[in-house]
Amino acid sequence: MPRLNGPPSHLLTGEELTAEQLTALLERAAELKAGRGEGVGARSLAGRTVALLFERPSTRTRISFQVGVAELGGHPLTLRADELQLGRGESIADTARVLSRYLHAIVIRAGSHATVAELAAAAEVPVVNALTPVHHPCQALADLLTLRERFGDLDGVSVAYVGDGNNVARSLAILGRLAGVEVRVATPTGYELEPGLPALDTRDPREAAEGADALYTDVWVSMGDEVEAERRRADLAPYQLNAELLALGSERAIALHCLPAHPGEEITEEVLYGERSAVWDQAENRLHSQKALLELLLG
Ligand code: CP
Ligand code: NVA
Repeated sequence: MPRLNGPPSHLLTGEELTAEQLTALLERAAELKAGRGEGVGARSLAGRTVALLFERPSTRTRISFQVGVAELGGHPLTLRADELQLGRGESIADTARVLSRYLHAIVIRAGSHATVAELAAAAEVPVVNALTPVHHPCQALADLLTLRERFGDLDGVSVAYVGDGNNVARSLAILGRLAGVEVRVATPTGYELEPGLPALDTRDPREAAEGADALYTDVWVSMGDEVEAERRRADLAPYQLNAELLALGSERAIALHCLPAHPGEEITEEVLYGERSAVWDQAENRLHSQKALLELLLG
């Protein structure tokens, strides 16, 4: 819930932000990106410590937060859940109470969304969801920053997400809608998002791709889905992001992927490394958008 006349207390799903806060965050992210060499924001987190707590592996999220906190003049403290007493059964709520006495914010990636919600409920400092199986809001902030720098005004930009209706798709739909982006989602039966969340919810990847400004996909087997890998690969095979699908997009269409990618599965090498690919900018934009997020939350 937003604080009265202030920033949101946490970022767990993206629904904590107002449209105005999201626009301002993306504007600030662009400023931080342009001014990175000149040290723009270099004192924003001076004297603050931010914990980065990971129950699951991460390359982009972990490193971009670690670098981002340091570039804002703060101190990042990267922790693995299994090296805390959490691993021996101390509750997440007690962990939150104690960490709140030392730190100014907690960024957490967890294997269950309930863990992050429980941590936020007991914490006295802002909590940022760095991915759960249900939501990945930090990814969506970078996705929107990438669309903004490619297309300018976000209002009316269309994105077609094809594949698994997972955490990345859900956060794109939630935050995309807030930003005025038309988010279309094509998934197989049984892999859909909640009804009404995307602007278009279809089983047909070609219908979603038609005239879209960006085509987006993610892995078919997310962290935690490994036991279903074989079934998922079979069900999702018709949803590959390839040159043929990209050609259905608008003239200016770009390809997006949150990474890590499995070239030859959900995306072809041709598209991932092709001239329309914006995925490397998208990965870089994790840094700038998360710096803007931390400034907003820690004001
Ligand atoms: N896209 C993303 O969140 O990547 P990591 O799992 O490497 O953090
Ligand atoms: N959907 C993927 C995203 C990884 C960044 C997963 O949850 O594993």
